[in-house]
Amino acid sequence: MAEIGGGERERERESQTLAKKMCQKYRSFLLVKTIFELFFFSNQDILRQEMALTWDSIINYSPFIFVGLITVAMQRSPLKKLFPSLKKYSVATTTRTKMTLPAVLEARRPAQCPEFDYSTLSNYKDFTVKHTTLNMDINFEKSKISGNVVYQLNRNQNRQQNKQLIHLDTSHLIVSSIQIDGIDTKSFHLEDRVEPLGSKLIIEPSKELPTEFQLTLAFETTDKCTALQWLTAKQTSGKPYVFSQLEAIHARSLFPSFDTPSIKSPFSANITSPLPVVFSGISSSDVEGTMYKFEQTVPIPAYLVGIASGDLVSAPIGPRSTVYTEPFRLKDAQWEFNGDVEKFITAAESIIFPYEWGTYDILINVDSYPYGGMESPNMTFATPTLIAHDKSNIDVIAHELAHSWSGNLVTNCSWNHFWLNEGWTVYLERRIVGKLHGEPTRHFSALIGLTDLQNSIDSMTNPTRFSTLVQCLNDGTDPDEAFSSVPYEKGFNFLFYLENLVGGPQEFDPFIKHYFTKFAKQSLDTFQFLDTLFEFYHDKRDLLETVDWEKWLFTPGMPPLQKFDTTLADNVYILAKKWVSAAKAQMSYEQLLKEFQNDDISKFNANQIMLFLETLTTGGNTVTETSSFKWSDYPDVARILLQIYKKGIMDSQNAEVVFKIYKFEVLAHLQEHYSELADWLGTVGRMKFVRPGYRLLNQVHRDLALATFDRFKDTYHPICRSLVKQDLGL
Ligand code: BES
Ligand code: ZN
Repeated sequence: MAEIGGGERERERESQTLAKKMCQKYRSFLLVKTIFELFFFSNQDILRQEMALTWDSIINYSPFIFVGLITVAMQRSPLKKLFPSLKKYSVATTTRTKMTLPAVLEARRPAQCPEFDYSTLSNYKDFTVKHTTLNMDINFEKSKISGNVVYQLNRNQNRQQNKQLIHLDTSHLIVSSIQIDGIDTKSFHLEDRVEPLGSKLIIEPSKELPTEFQLTLAFETTDKCTALQWLTAKQTSGKPYVFSQLEAIHARSLFPSFDTPSIKSPFSANITSPLPVVFSGISSSDVEGTMYKFEQTVPIPAYLVGIASGDLVSAPIGPRSTVYTEPFRLKDAQWEFNGDVEKFITAAESIIFPYEWGTYDILINVDSYPYGGMESPNMTFATPTLIAHDKSNIDVIAHELAHSWSGNLVTNCSWNHFWLNEGWTVYLERRIVGKLHGEPTRHFSALIGLTDLQNSIDSMTNPTRFSTLVQCLNDGTDPDEAFSSVPYEKGFNFLFYLENLVGGPQEFDPFIKHYFTKFAKQSLDTFQFLDTLFEFYHDKRDLLETVDWEKWLFTPGMPPLQKFDTTLADNVYILAKKWVSAAKAQMSYEQLLKEFQNDDISKFNANQIMLFLETLTTGGNTVTETSSFKWSDYPDVARILLQIYKKGIMDSQNAEVVFKIYKFEVLAHLQEHYSELADWLGTVGRMKFVRPGYRLLNQVHRDLALATFDRFKDTYHPICRSLVKQDLGL
């Protein structure tokens, strides 16, 4: 190892002193914060949790503390002479307790590891959930799910405070009865609702809880439930339909739960419904009449539970994969995904390690499904907008599949660290795509992502609050409100940057395997990720020290710009710039027809067309450049462009392309197209399109935006409805 020079040693000492000071400051801050909370909010719970944390830390570190004390005692005693190897050992212990990360990071290390999740009202630290059983009945007439949830719990021995109480999350739920080990307990109540976290359920057992016990809670959902969307037969292909969407904090609206990604357990589900049911687990073949049974043997958090029931039929799409959907979509769905899912799985397996969940199925949900996809284990839920009739949108499946490792096996411990779920997933999704279609395709996808990130940050009302990679939702901020492209794309860029920093994929791949193996079936925070990175690359410490950690993790705005291969984007940029120049030059109709032909785009794939339309809307500039160019100054040129490229652009069935066309038309103030966008907003429920769609319409024609929302609001998912309402300032 190279000798550290005097100056360097001095610097290291200085930086350690600084880190210590910062840690002290942070601890003082925590203390003041706790006192503040105690006096001003009377938030006994947070105080209790934080006191428990200190206790936990003592327990967790007790072996080190013990060894440390013995070592110090022995070093000061005559015994030292008898143990010459002690010196070496004591160095090792000091190294262990020494700060392991750069000072800027140590200063921000949370008090507890993994960080406490403040988005739950449950006292999840007091218990270990060994198993969860959901017994549920789907009642389409009453639009209600009722039943019970049975938890097999262990009381955590080292939690001294309030050991008699059990706190669970609920939100707009009715809890009718509770049993502990089969014996009714009457002493429970729901606290007043706190937005958006819900109503804490407090159970006060009459006698001391055993170390292991069973907790059974009977519940029913209400019409305020945010976890479910109910559709009438008229809204679907002719039969009623229901589906759940629980990420991030909506599980508590379906069943009383420790609704935190920090708590995982295996699940069994017994669901009765007059219509077929799918679930986030493997179905037992023995369907009993109208009872559908499922097992999820891998421990999962509550937010990953997924349930849907309706007129569902299925078709095979691969050796371990089946697609489920309503009958009218089955053929299209089967065609779109057949064969490719298995390619994605094997590519992912070669990058990480074998798929551990058994089957990988897809549910193509109803139009109002608010997301592109949701990674319910064994059963990805997906929007019908993935069906583009040319397989051009199936990368979303690579994304949801990648969650089988990042998110589902290795999970963020709280929504502050959501990038660990989504940033990693985008990274893996692009590695899969790169493996199957080549590196330029991976880089191209990253370029599209970068424009998404820029748009997302530009459209934020509070970018300072929500554009950092590591979030702070500890004040009870709704994770739905914090949701944006930032954890996805900043997270991806961060991992891509690290991949290059350590020497490219061949150097980074062993870390990928190590990280996912180490944290499989656990929930972690960013600091555990960083500790593992520094441990793994201990021989590259100097390199890691050069990283601007503060900028990547805690600074709002765009991340440091990475160099991506633009092979597949160059022609797109050239054509977009040419159009912008033509518009600026006020070219005549004839000149434009001479200059541009449909052939310009005939070789573009759907993603290139998307980038073309996007680059047009930013005035022909890439994210690094700014422009004052406005298509609304050149509406006629915009019209001619759409006319020339009718074939290839205007006839695309790819929802991403369709949306970008509407965006271009609105930005060019082509009023004749506003009502088409308004009508389209009644056919899609995916928030990626619905929210910016309303925002665009609102910019140019508020009355139409409001009337359109009024027309379609009842067809939207409750989460989508409430976010669009906010976006429109209603
Ligand atoms: N897990 C997310 C969806 C989600 C996130 C639901 C947060 C609720 C709260 C899913 O994996 C996802 O990222 N979907 C994307 C797909 C895209 C990035 C390929 C979507 O819905 O657009
Ligand atoms: Zn995702």
